[in-house]
Amino acid sequence: MTDVASQGPAASEADRAVLTNRQGHPIYDNQNQRTVGSRGPATLENYQFLEKISHFDRERIPERVVHARGATAFGVFVADGTVGDEPIAKYTRAKLFSEKGKETEVALRFSTVAGGRDSSEAARDPRGFAVKFYTEDGNWDLVGNNLGVFFIRDAIKFPDFIHSQKPDPVTFERQVANRVFDFWSQSPEALHMMTLVLSPRGLPASYRTMQGFGVNTYKWVNAAGETKLVKYHWLPKQGVKSWTEADAAVAQGQELGVHTKDLYAAIERGDHPSWDLHVQLMDDHDHPELDFDPLDDTKVWPENEFPLRKVGTMTLNRTPQDFFTESEQIAFGTGVLVDGLDFSDDKMLVGRTFSYSDTQRYRVGPNYLQLPVNQPKGAKVATNQRDGAMAYGVDLGPGQNPHVNYEPSILGGLREAEYPTHDEQGPEINGRLTRKRIERTDDYTQAGQRYLLSEQWEKDDLVANLIANLSQCDRPIQERMMWHLFMVEDELGQRVGDGLGISADDVRGMPPLQTQTLTEAELQRAANLG
Ligand code: HEM
Repeated sequence: MTDVASQGPAASEADRAVLTNRQGHPIYDNQNQRTVGSRGPATLENYQFLEKISHFDRERIPERVVHARGATAFGVFVADGTVGDEPIAKYTRAKLFSEKGKETEVALRFSTVAGGRDSSEAARDPRGFAVKFYTEDGNWDLVGNNLGVFFIRDAIKFPDFIHSQKPDPVTFERQVANRVFDFWSQSPEALHMMTLVLSPRGLPASYRTMQGFGVNTYKWVNAAGETKLVKYHWLPKQGVKSWTEADAAVAQGQELGVHTKDLYAAIERGDHPSWDLHVQLMDDHDHPELDFDPLDDTKVWPENEFPLRKVGTMTLNRTPQDFFTESEQIAFGTGVLVDGLDFSDDKMLVGRTFSYSDTQRYRVGPNYLQLPVNQPKGAKVATNQRDGAMAYGVDLGPGQNPHVNYEPSILGGLREAEYPTHDEQGPEINGRLTRKRIERTDDYTQAGQRYLLSEQWEKDDLVANLIANLSQCDRPIQERMMWHLFMVEDELGQRVGDGLGISADDVRGMPPLQTQTLTEAELQRAANLG
């Protein structure tokens, strides 16, 4: 990235490139349309003018429905060849991890979630942390966030959740507390993530000083077809730093794109940010011994039981040459995996996997994968896909008969690859079709632990933010939230209740939500709130 000021003095007139239109025709006059006489009517055959204006009319594509504000940078991932102190091949056959020192090009797009494309980067919000690995087996996207958990655990709730965070559909007022807390108070699985977003962690001091997490549970598959459940963690070598509300207000007053500016300036001055990639591994089954479900993305896996194990390091060393083609049109998705990496049955992950490529076909166009930033770099693409809006080329394989755009064929078309090892893997699954929530919901314990483990200033900040937001909410929403907060942790409930003038006695008799199934211990707690 170079700005105008750093370009140096303009080249001499003769050295400057000549302006053309997109047909390659030189432009002789870029100031005046073609008209009959100097005051006369414009002519319709004025190709130069029509091409210029009609392209301009189409300059905008829809912004992302979420994560609209973001910035991409590029770099490299270097593998350790091990996971902690074990050879990585024991757990995954993914080639990008296989050897010590193996390098894979990456693109990383940081983002905020709720605001539009030109909104403030200093807003209180989770941050997106989406990494594209251009591996020799094709692309792998790890599309995560900076907080490690999420607000909901079933993809069917995502449009409602996002609507509650987006502007009021009548007034277009942004992040209306009454709407946000209306949804959260009725969706207690959001409490854990809420304690993070409303703490200083919801205001990272920069993109460089944030953690990243895959959040959803994935699988690793080894050469024998054995699977493990896996969660991904990116730990910044720059350390983790957060802002208070006051810090963010100052930054936002000066610059809406404060984090992009910081990131690009650091890379340009050679201060290349880097993150170690760690994983947590778990045997691939439902773990009845745990009080949470390993496929529940509102939970973290305790690090004392499932230690972090390092697998490599990513360094960002290049800024984009063009915002639109490299940041706006880049397209990530949770379905984009390579051999040795797989999905789990996490009910968010399946929904996400449909949603990303679906929205990108609409937002960017059906041939979005032909764009340079989305094309695999390490692997050769050979498909029988043809045509569609803005088709840029044909993905012919080496030696492919160009007449044969179908498979199977004996006329020189493409053939199927052989399975690397097995076509079966992982445990058997059986069950009857149903619509049920998972059995181990436990919406309160980890939120309470998060509060208790916070430093005093972080606790104070969370309490102040809850009081400030809940003060703007209707009384029934305040009361339901207070009931949840007492369920999370007495001290948190008491402190927020003091600020709102609501005590444990005021909410103790409330029945649980109809959408909750509380355990005996939770029912006991509800009876003894405060
Ligand atoms: C972007 C859907 C949950 C992280 C998006 C986009 C959609 C979407 C439609 C816009 C993509 C585009 O236009 O290119 C969903 C659905 C979810 C879900 C349906 C739940 C079912 C999550 C979760 C995380 C997450 C749990 C974090 C772990 C991201 C990120 C981006 C994004 C980082 C921005 C990617 C970029 O920089 O281009 N999501 N999302 N999403 N989502 Fe999700």
